[in-house]
Formats: sequence, structure tokens, C-alpha cells
Amino acid sequence: MLLTLPDILSAEDLREARQLLRAAPWTDGRESAGPQARTVKNNQQLPHDCEAAQFIRQRVLDGLNRSALFFSAALPLRIFTPRINRYGGEHNTYGNHIDNAVRLKATAGGGTEYVRTDVSCTVFLNDPDDYEGGELTVSDTYGTRGVKLPAGHAILYPGTSLHQVTPVTRGERVACFLWVQSMVRSDEQRRLLYELDMNLLALRQQHGETAETTGLTGTYHNLLRMWAET
Ligand code: NI
Repeated sequence: MLLTLPDILSAEDLREARQLLRAAPWTDGRESAGPQARTVKNNQQLPHDCEAAQFIRQRVLDGLNRSALFFSAALPLRIFTPRINRYGGEHNTYGNHIDNAVRLKATAGGGTEYVRTDVSCTVFLNDPDDYEGGELTVSDTYGTRGVKLPAGHAILYPGTSLHQVTPVTRGERVACFLWVQSMVRSDEQRRLLYELDMNLLALRQQHGETAETTGLTGTYHNLLRMWAET
């Protein structure tokens, strides 16, 4: 399932982010890629500890935490440290690949933990008008879709899908990127839960709380109980 999450970052967040990005220490994106991805990855990224990366990461995580849509669609258990990347000039593309299934994350306490990459999320930091090309294309059993969203919006897509960022031929594309380990591993099961949740929300808005919405809410939670791993 591909899902747009609007306004994860505010206009003020984006202004501050752009300010910090002006002096940001970009490095070669291949440093964090696996052996297959390394052959097709050609972008730049920020070190986790630089000021711009820390600021953007925190605002993105805050924005996702506030988003009911994100919770319902991703059912997050763990989030891998968000990265900020840039496509433009000689480092302008990331060819077709599937992300590594498991990443090792440094935790706040100085330890590490594994994160299974069930759901991928890209938060756009500048507008589509700022660049030519740079489309995120995602292929799954439903076909291939190209995505370019306004600054501050995010796209969720399954970690299982083949995807790429097409070459940026003018300007720069800057985005924040992260993976989510979901409480529900299966994309199909997550989708069913999301659809049930969204339809329940609409039913409640139309008819208020009824015996049927109470019953279906129970069904939602019982399915989640059956499928969730925490
Ligand atoms: Ni990828």
C-alpha cells in the first residue's frame, strides 16, 4: 500500500531545516548502502550527528507521532534513525533496489537494536518545482507508481517493494528517509487493519457510536491482537 501523509512538517519546520541545510556537511551516500545497493546508489547524505540532521530527525519523528494516519497505516514498533539525503549535480540518482531487510540501530542508551524494515517512509523537504526528475518510483504487485510530493508531505510504501529515485536533471531534491518495523509484519494484514480502521472512522462520523461500530471496533482489536508482535 502506498499512502500519502500530509503536513508531517510545518512551514516553520521547513524554514528552519532549510537554514540549517545551507551549511550542512554532506557525505557520500554509498557509505550506508549494502553491497547490491552500493552499485546503484549515487546520492549524498548527512552524518547522523550534525545539527541539521538532528533537527530534521526530531521534527520528522514528532510529526509522525502526531499523525493518526501514520499510526493506523504503519502500526509502528521501532523506527530506524531517519536519514537526510540529497540528489543533484553528480550525485543525482538511486537505481532500482530492495532495501536490506534488517538494520542495526544505535539506541539512545548507547546500545544497539535490530530494526526490520517493514515500511519505508520518505518525507519531502523541498517542493517538486525545485527540481526536474527525482521521482520516487515504487513497484509492487499492483504495478509501478511515481511519487513526488510537496515539501512537508510524506509517502509510506512497503519495505518489500522494488524502488528507485530517478536522476535529478535540474536543481536538488532533499528528503528525509526512514524505516519502520511494524507490530504487524505482513503488508496485507496491515492493509486490512488500516482499511477497517478508516471505514470505522467514517461510519462513526456519519452515524455516531452504534452497536455495530462497537462490534467492529472489537473485531479490529481482536485482529490486531492476533497479528501484532510487540
Ligand atoms: Ni531504498
